[in-house]
Amino acid sequence: MKIIMLGAPGAGKGTQAKMIADKYALPHVSTGDIFRANLKEGTELGMKVKAYMDQGALVPDELTVEILLDRVSKDDCKNGYVLDGFPRTIPQAEVLDKELEKLGDAVDLAIDVEVPDENIVRRMSGRRACVKCGATYHVEHIPPKQEGICDRCGAELIQRDDDKPETVQKRLSVYHEQTAPLIDYYTKKGILKTVDGTQDMDAVFGAITAIIDRH
Ligand code: AP5
Ligand code: MG
Repeated sequence: MKIIMLGAPGAGKGTQAKMIADKYALPHVSTGDIFRANLKEGTELGMKVKAYMDQGALVPDELTVEILLDRVSKDDCKNGYVLDGFPRTIPQAEVLDKELEKLGDAVDLAIDVEVPDENIVRRMSGRRACVKCGATYHVEHIPPKQEGICDRCGAELIQRDDDKPETVQKRLSVYHEQTAPLIDYYTKKGILKTVDGTQDMDAVFGAITAIIDRH
């Protein structure tokens, strides 16, 4: 099963993608996580993407597509995957469709996690992420058992550099201009499903599993 998670920055794509990956034993592929891991390790790719990410802009399609196609060609993706944060532009979606078509394959579901802009800035300012395993928390809604420490692996929790309110605003406008048109794109393909992302995370997950199980 190949699932795409759509939604504004902070809608909960990553939170839900991890839960889907666990329940259905699918790899969770997040272009944002891949870029952040490279930034942290100071790789050549990390240097290339830093300025874009810091400004809340998109990394150029050419670079992003190359990284994504390389990742999904790995063995663990043979039976499907959950894409989180990709595609983010129409050209990215078109390349993915073309590549899958060559293999006689296609995306099964695009799940849009809908959250109004007003809720987003509040969510982002409270987000904390594990430096080691990538687990995500929220200081109010989903707090770790011990402040600043990951429940899953015990490593340190940090705030992302691009979660500053000005950068969040920029990411939101980039989302509306460049990514939201994908809702129409996948609606036309007949595979778009929408869930209300303002509910608590278990309710959102319940809505998503109902969609996947019906598929
Ligand atoms: P990326 O890492 O993908 O960031 P994003 O899309 O801005 O999304 P986020 O990770 O911020 O939000 P999320 O929807 O995953 O929410 P989360 O689950 O964490 O991309 C970062 C950057 O990389 C981009 O700006 C761009 O520069 C670059 N990039 C990446 N992919 C690219 C691509 N394809 N093309 C070009 N550039 C690309 O949840 C947010 C918070 O809310 C958390 O604190 C969480 O605990 C909390 N929360 C989650 N669910 C709920 C709930 N139901 N109720 C209450 N709180 C909740
Ligand atoms: Mg994310």
